[in-house]
Amino acid sequence: MAEARAQARGVVGLVPTMGFFHEGHLSLMERSAAECDLTMATLYVNPLQFDDPADLARYPADHDRDLALAEACGVDLMVVPGPEEMFPSPPLTGVTVAGIGERLEGEFRPGHMTGVATVVTRLLAALQPDRAYFGRKDAQQMAVVTRLVRDLGFPVEVVGCPLVREVDGLALSSRNVLLGARRAEALALSRGLMGAADRFDQGERRATALEAAVRSAVPDDALEYARLCEASTMTGATMAEGETVLVAAARFGPVRIIDNVCLVADRRGAAADRGVRLGHPSLIYGSE
Ligand code: PAJ
Repeated sequence: MAEARAQARGVVGLVPTMGFFHEGHLSLMERSAAECDLTMATLYVNPLQFDDPADLARYPADHDRDLALAEACGVDLMVVPGPEEMFPSPPLTGVTVAGIGERLEGEFRPGHMTGVATVVTRLLAALQPDRAYFGRKDAQQMAVVTRLVRDLGFPVEVVGCPLVREVDGLALSSRNVLLGARRAEALALSRGLMGAADRFDQGERRATALEAAVRSAVPDDALEYARLCEASTMTGATMAEGETVLVAAARFGPVRIIDNVCLVADRRGAAADRGVRLGHPSLIYGSE
């Protein structure tokens, strides 16, 4: 990794991933390729961020397909480190972003956010990109990475990119292939969030009402949380004022999915960011 970095010239963009690419990943790569002189993507299924060994074991992979897709999107260098390259011995050092990383995902998946922050720190230190691209699909991850970069003083610009959805609204995720017949049920999560965004557009600002819109769409036994948060700190908000994000997580059988809508209301006006929808079924359903 250090060798690759030493040879790079100009503005270097980095797209960290865990592979099994879909258009969400590809949108980050294309953006980096358009904005940077050299784009590096990493593919590393980071064991530190899996709280459930079964989830790690069934995480989908297809390296050949991933390499071809990345190349087609303008990635110059695909870095696929083995575990011993990432961490020659199991790391005793962990990066915990207090508060921001401890709520929500941090609560429901113990150790997850520290695992993410630790591996992102490792990648930033090794590859020293000028820009690092992350998807707003993982709103809390964005907040954690933004804060760790600031706290640790990495000279990198964190670039947040739009959340990409299927035609029917389901947020793209590598895990979606594991949903199988449950895909139809899982649509409830994005439907609930879209309903909340509609309420927001109609003037609703109360967290209770916006969260209730999600809760009414998703069965109680599936929903883990639906919470309106202040976007940079991920602390609970009582009103959708300023930059907030309505984040939600749900379980459908063995598959856990997360999704969100950004709700911004300030002096200039109000806007719900629902992400972007593909005009065709995504790559992960084999329709390329
Ligand atoms: P992974 O889930 O593979 O996602 C890699 C990047 O793609 C992340 O920045 C994620 O937010 C973005 N992404 C995923 N689905 C998206 C979608 N539907 N729309 C837009 N962007 C999307 O996130 C991780 O890997 C890991 O936690 C990682 C940062 C690589 C650390 O291990």
